Amino acid sequence: MAKYPRVASLKTVDDFRGRLNDLDLRMPVQDRVEPGPDSVLAQPATVNGVSIGNRFCILPMEGWDGTTDGRPTDLTRRRWQNFGISGAKLIWGGEAVAVRHDGRANPNQLCMQGDNANEIAELHDLLIHAHQERFGDTEDLLVGLQLTHSGRYARPNQKAVAEPRAVQRNPALDDRVGVVDSSGLISDDELKSLIEDFVRSAVEAQKIGFRFVDVKHCHGYLGHELLSGMDRPGPFGGSFENRTRFLREIVAGIRAEAPGLEIGVRFSLFDFVPFVTGDDSVGTPDQRGDSRLHFGCTHDGLGIDLETPVRFVQLLDSLGIRLICTTAGSPYSTPHLQRPAFFPPSDGYQPPEDPLVGVDRQILATAALKQQCPDAFIVGSGYTYLQDWIGHVGQAVVDAGMADSIGLGRMVLSYPDLPADIIAGTQVQRKRICRTFSDCTTAPRKGMISGCYPLDPFYKQMPERTELAKLKKESTNMV
Ligand SMILES: Cc1cc2nc3c(=O)[nH]c(=O)nc-3n(C[C@H](O)[C@H](O)[C@H](O)COP(=O)(O)O)c2cc1C
Ligand code: SF4
Repeated sequence: MAKYPRVASLKTVDDFRGRLNDLDLRMPVQDRVEPGPDSVLAQPATVNGVSIGNRFCILPMEGWDGTTDGRPTDLTRRRWQNFGISGAKLIWGGEAVAVRHDGRANPNQLCMQGDNANEIAELHDLLIHAHQERFGDTEDLLVGLQLTHSGRYARPNQKAVAEPRAVQRNPALDDRVGVVDSSGLISDDELKSLIEDFVRSAVEAQKIGFRFVDVKHCHGYLGHELLSGMDRPGPFGGSFENRTRFLREIVAGIRAEAPGLEIGVRFSLFDFVPFVTGDDSVGTPDQRGDSRLHFGCTHDGLGIDLETPVRFVQLLDSLGIRLICTTAGSPYSTPHLQRPAFFPPSDGYQPPEDPLVGVDRQILATAALKQQCPDAFIVGSGYTYLQDWIGHVGQAVVDAGMADSIGLGRMVLSYPDLPADIIAGTQVQRKRICRTFSDCTTAPRKGMISGCYPLDPFYKQMPERTELAKLKKESTNMV
């Protein structure tokens, strides 16, 4: 277990600040979270003429709970309803929806194929309805759909069988998913047809009523891997122009086929070389890591270089894209960058740093991006580990112009309406605060549906909870 003090043990804002000082971290913190309509986090914003009613955003989160042909189930519907009652006025994508079958990250991922759009429409409508019922107004609620192809991490048919469609060889990643030579790399012709699938899915999303689509470029999936496709020959690799061709052609297609639909891009602002489990189960960099193949990474593979990411956001700006969501790394190769956690998922490594360092890294990198790209509306991620202090830091970040919106992921699985409580000034319910137990990641890694088994009463009473506890115990015994 991690050797760092738990955030729950920091009882006052001064204790929390003291810990940040001990670690030499620079994220801002305010003493008091202001409630009410005049508060910083309740302020509306306008992006490309579209209103967003406050500064909370729900980040996309899938539940590995769709049908094998890519349609939602009751569990998916429940999650989207929870997003609707969260109080956040920006819903960034709901969850990753594959634009075609071979791009699914698991056999239960939603997929925009056949007549599935009808049921994905139901998710949209349930969310809007839930928001209307609770808050009485959806005029300033902006809801988008995240479109994806999982590339290297595709597992479309069987949970345990990787069917990677990687962009290029990568020595530190290939054997994780069974890439043994270049024969299975995704071809240029496949990328061209995939661009059409993205555009077709965006057209469906617009018909449903989604106001924007996120062309996903994060977490090691296809769009993200293309951004660092330095070793890929041909029109989609090598130069910056080639590495962004996929995105640019999707955007051109959407502009032509779905005029009026806003486009957003969620991307991993930085990455490090892949980490592996080292001594004492603590994460350590894989010696085979090649920093050139990881976007936003310094030459030594363990630092942030924002030169190309800034250029990327400037390119997006020139394409009229102002909706940006930053995240970091990959949940497979650098989970401590991406979702800082006290307890890692059972197939992961123990955190190599106090997870607060990971939160600080995302906040400061996002602030540096915002400074260089002031016209972008930038949503930050990775705040859940702050737990009781999300409001204090989130308010300070927005107040200082270090990000425009505070994105929440895991926290809304355990405590869906935390944003509403913060804005209303209602006493935050400590027993619902996500303590980063990582069951929502461990469960799908074990082939089960995701959900907050420790804290959400609905998942707590499921038989899967017992099963998960058993599997976790078995893997601990194996170490
Ligand atoms: C269960 C689970 C599912 C996720 N699914 C997605 C997804 O579909 N698309 C995506 O871009 N990120 C996904 N993420 C990452 C989150 O959006 C977010 O970046 C991450 O959890 C860090 O934010 P947090 O600290 O608020 O949890 C997922 C995370 C979790 C825990
Ligand atoms: S399972 Fe629940 S408490 Fe654990 S990380 Fe996920 S949301 Fe948080």
